[in-house]
Amino acid sequence: MSDLIPFKLPANLDGKPANVDHRIAIVMVVTSDTKFENYDIAIQSVRCYSRIHNYEFILAVDTDFNCEHKDNFFRRHCVSAKILPLFDAIAFLDADIGIINPKRKIEEYMQDGIDIVFYDRFYNWEVVAGSYIAKNTQYAIDLLNDFADYEFKLPNSFHGTDNGALHIFLAEKLFPNARIQIEICQQVYNKSKDYDDLFTYEACIRAIWGTGTDFGKVRIMKKGTGWARDGWLTSMLWHEDLDFMIHGWKTEQLEETPNVTIKLNQEGRNRWYNPLGGPIHLLKCSPQNMTWSYDPRLLGDKEEILKCLEKFEKEVARDQVNSYSRMTSMLSR
Ligand SMILES: *[C@@H]1O[C@H](CO)[C@@H](O)[C@H](O)[C@H]1NC(C)=O
Ligand SMILES: *[C@@H]1O[C@H](CO)[C@@H](O)[C@H](O)[C@H]1NC(C)=O
Ligand SMILES: *[C@@H]1O[C@H](CO)[C@@H](O)[C@H](O)[C@H]1NC(C)=O
Repeated sequence: MSDLIPFKLPANLDGKPANVDHRIAIVMVVTSDTKFENYDIAIQSVRCYSRIHNYEFILAVDTDFNCEHKDNFFRRHCVSAKILPLFDAIAFLDADIGIINPKRKIEEYMQDGIDIVFYDRFYNWEVVAGSYIAKNTQYAIDLLNDFADYEFKLPNSFHGTDNGALHIFLAEKLFPNARIQIEICQQVYNKSKDYDDLFTYEACIRAIWGTGTDFGKVRIMKKGTGWARDGWLTSMLWHEDLDFMIHGWKTEQLEETPNVTIKLNQEGRNRWYNPLGGPIHLLKCSPQNMTWSYDPRLLGDKEEILKCLEKFEKEVARDQVNSYSRMTSMLSR
């Protein structure tokens, strides 16, 4: 991928870059020491996909944008807030998110009245901080900048960087009337010592949000309805009716696809198999060609995948209740 040139902001910020006919950009923000080899399959799939739909693919190095944040997890949202005004919308993706189904479109997630869309992680009750689709509106730009600036309000605890902070940040923004309830969650957040504590604080925030998805101009999509999910949830088996992007394509964790029938389970969180049939040739990626070749061993059965995911979703819902019940002991700690 030696041809990959990191994106820089145009010198004159008032004007959009010359001849931009692409209205939507897919944005990945990396640090200066990111090893691209570890994300090559994911990044190539996103680059090919971008060419198919005439999206701009933007790979940005976070130190090039004059963002003062020390923690790169917060800094990346400052960077995306600076890129957003140059387009009609951006899809911000973690570098280990790959495209599996190029027939799907970013526009599916851009509805009237919604300025920014997040989605729920499948394996717990967290909303994902590492991917969102945002429209170029002042509301969305402000939200991303304020989120990045939460770095300066972090408690001195096991706060879970941007993903932990996103919960209280959104709660304060979207539920100004819940000041007293949020304060209780904040106490637990401030005392957090490990992941169990962090998840209890997140369960506290989710209790304030309830089960809705739309909060003013912010949408938080339910589990399994967003654009990406972790591959390990289904042993990397997938189906084109269900899947669009897959999270967790780190090349160093790639394993050889077994020749025996693959069982649907959640047993290999740190490994994945490549569902693509071969390497992507960027020159063959165009609006006329949405046909990718796939490894037939990873084409799953739709009903079985749905059943497997629903079973797991029920387990997670129980875990969420158990986690919330730890509030009592944490508050008296
Ligand atoms: C939690 O910590 C923050 C940051 O240190 C502090 O501003 C806030 O007052 C604390 N809140 C509670 C409820 O302990
Ligand atoms: C699966 O079979 C192919 C073709 O026979 C072989 O090249 C490959 O090494 C096998 N993979 C594993 C994991 O055994
Ligand atoms: C379409 O694109 C895929 C992915 O790059 C490639 O493997 C395939 O050969 C292309 N098909 C044609 C007809 O160019």
